[in-house]
Amino acid sequence: MIFTMILAGGKGNRMGNKDIPKQFLILGDKPIIIHTIEKFLLFNEINEVIALCPKEWLIHTKNLLHKHCIPESRVTVVEGGDTRHRTIQKGISFLQDHRNASSNDIIITHDAVRPFVSYRIIKENIEQCVAHGAVDTVIPATDTIVRSEDGRTLNEIPPRQELYQGQTPQSFRIGTIIDSYRSLESQEIEMATDAAKIALLNGKDVYIVIGESTNLKITTPSDLLFANAILKEGVVK
Ligand code: CTP
Repeated sequence: MIFTMILAGGKGNRMGNKDIPKQFLILGDKPIIIHTIEKFLLFNEINEVIALCPKEWLIHTKNLLHKHCIPESRVTVVEGGDTRHRTIQKGISFLQDHRNASSNDIIITHDAVRPFVSYRIIKENIEQCVAHGAVDTVIPATDTIVRSEDGRTLNEIPPRQELYQGQTPQSFRIGTIIDSYRSLESQEIEMATDAAKIALLNGKDVYIVIGESTNLKITTPSDLLFANAILKEGVVK
């Protein structure tokens, strides 16, 4: 089986909008989270989409799905966690407890606030995950990336051709990601930037799917302006 986890458990503090988490803000004619979910519903091979939301937004999310005619048979709304890793872990527990998920099943984890994920990116995540068990979506770094330990002076300028920026989806065989989370202390987990890092720390090979610059993460108000421009220009496949 193949499941998608839409990670929508965050509060969106950097968006500066205290009343409504950014995933529920309107982009074009509908909330960001609805754009995102609809991308995954195009795939018949995805058995179910699990939308993980803050507890106080569960009913709102269910109402939104209903309003946008998204069938309950394809999307289930579940409470997320206090951190992004806790949200993923809660999603995994839900699949084990309520869907009888097995270690060979696949989860595609995706930020609710990346509404322009393309058909190709999702398709390649599924193909690569079936073949290899752990996949990250990344784009080649265009700017030079520098490393500084103290934020005042440079320690290193790594060769740009080896550097990529992480996006989502990140996809895993359920057994692989459960093993990886189990192998780490909770402090180590929270230090890790994302689930691909958890798999890497556990010694797994994580394969690359090349992302797209339009697969942007809406983090700040200016990102929402860019997102509206992308939507208007219709540059997303
Ligand atoms: N996320 C989640 N559960 C959390 C925290 C984040 O599912 N406890 C999700 C967010 O909803 C978002 C994605 O992870 O879709 C990317 O995280 P980020 O952009 O950092 O979202 P927020 O945590 O909401 O933003 P901020 O850091 O500005 O508060």
